[in-house]
Amino acid sequence: MTVKNVSVIGTGYLGATHAACMAELGFDVLGVDVDPAKIEALSAGDLPFHEPGLPELIRKHVASGRLRFTTDMSQAGSWADVHFIAVGTPQQRGGTGADLTYVDAATESLAASITKDSLIVGKSTVPVGTAARLAELVEDAAAPGVEVSLAWNPEFLREGYAVEDTLRPDRLVIGTRRPEDEAILREVYAEALERETPWISTDYETAELVKVAANAFLATKISFINAFAEVTETIGGDITTLADAIGYDTRIGRKFLNAGVGFGGGCLPKDIRALQTRVAELGLDHSMRFLDEIDQINLRRRKKAVAQAFELLDQNIEGKKIAVLGITFKPLSDDVRDSPGLDVAARLYSAGADVAVYDPEGNRNAAARYPRLGYVDSLDEAVTAAELVILTTEWNEFKALTPADLEGKVAAKRFLDARNVLPAHDWENAGWTFAQLGRKLNR
Ligand code: UGA
Repeated sequence: MTVKNVSVIGTGYLGATHAACMAELGFDVLGVDVDPAKIEALSAGDLPFHEPGLPELIRKHVASGRLRFTTDMSQAGSWADVHFIAVGTPQQRGGTGADLTYVDAATESLAASITKDSLIVGKSTVPVGTAARLAELVEDAAAPGVEVSLAWNPEFLREGYAVEDTLRPDRLVIGTRRPEDEAILREVYAEALERETPWISTDYETAELVKVAANAFLATKISFINAFAEVTETIGGDITTLADAIGYDTRIGRKFLNAGVGFGGGCLPKDIRALQTRVAELGLDHSMRFLDEIDQINLRRRKKAVAQAFELLDQNIEGKKIAVLGITFKPLSDDVRDSPGLDVAARLYSAGADVAVYDPEGNRNAAARYPRLGYVDSLDEAVTAAELVILTTEWNEFKALTPADLEGKVAAKRFLDARNVLPAHDWENAGWTFAQLGRKLNR
């Protein structure tokens, strides 16, 4: 098969990025989504979320004609050689497992609409065993005489670097049951293969597990250092120096060892919970039990940030203005899903504080979830007359802050750097009571 036409089912973070990048690689691409508003925006070249570099790429290929969007699945079924499934697998409401409603529905409706030989490629993060189940579903739904098969190709993109990660992945993992299917994907990813990108050809189960294992490992690294932060903030010691020192050992590595208010977002938290739930279903709950501890350490960081705020305000928080700098789960994103900063802000608000939130990109999404927090449009507005400033997301604008920037604006010189990104001694020398997560409070 020569691959020319590619469809991408689901146009959220993953799908919109994948669709634009496939167009950039020279394919004709059709993005399909059930949400007409999203399709209308994307067709006009507008991106409904913040991702650096992606709006430009979408506009470029909508204009070139290589990228189109539709709500009509049958257009994809009769046209594409390869279909990527890129819909979400959020945490179940009221449960800890992954909600597979969207993956199942997308695969079913796609399989039923396919009228030419083609390959379906799952990219969504799914519990192990899902691909094998969907392969049967696809086989049953295929029209007589039409050959449709399934591959699994997990995605490792990071929000904020989605375009770069998709165009220049650090590895490609391909789970297939037939060599012909792998050959098709070699054609799709020819450009990456030319650059000698590692190509891991494997079965469905390994491909599915690679993705969740990677996220579980990253979550473990973060909670590992945060567990040490609990120790250093009690007995003394410097958590950042500790991370630097162990990070020089290349077997350990320095990345993902930044202690602070912990991990959030639409992936790490729900993936470690879904993995535990899935292995428990397999009768192996002991195997991933440690991930429960990883989750608990992570959630304790949020409570600790709130406790630090109380301590800095001498337990007297009622009516006090607190500036919360950063509400997204990480910089370069407007995503507030499971955001540690938003959680901390909401807890402080519930405790009676007057919370002023400023985030360069996240205010709108945060306001949709917690409308009662005070959202302001600038750092200055947030910190003016604040009794306490808390840095919860390490946007560059906040990392560049100096004591002089806030001098004369705040009501009291109290700062909680919940991401450990500012030089504590500079702030203390300028007369601030300066706290960090992982550092014993000097008062
Ligand atoms: C994560 C993975 O990094 C991607 O490889 C994966 O493809 C993606 O999930 C996914 O499953 O789709 P992402 O959710 O964009 O990507 O965010 P990360 O950069 O991993 O950050 C996750 C959280 O960890 C953030 O809240 C960040 O602030 C926190 N973090 C990260 C720390 O607290 N400390 C660190 O040292 C690093």
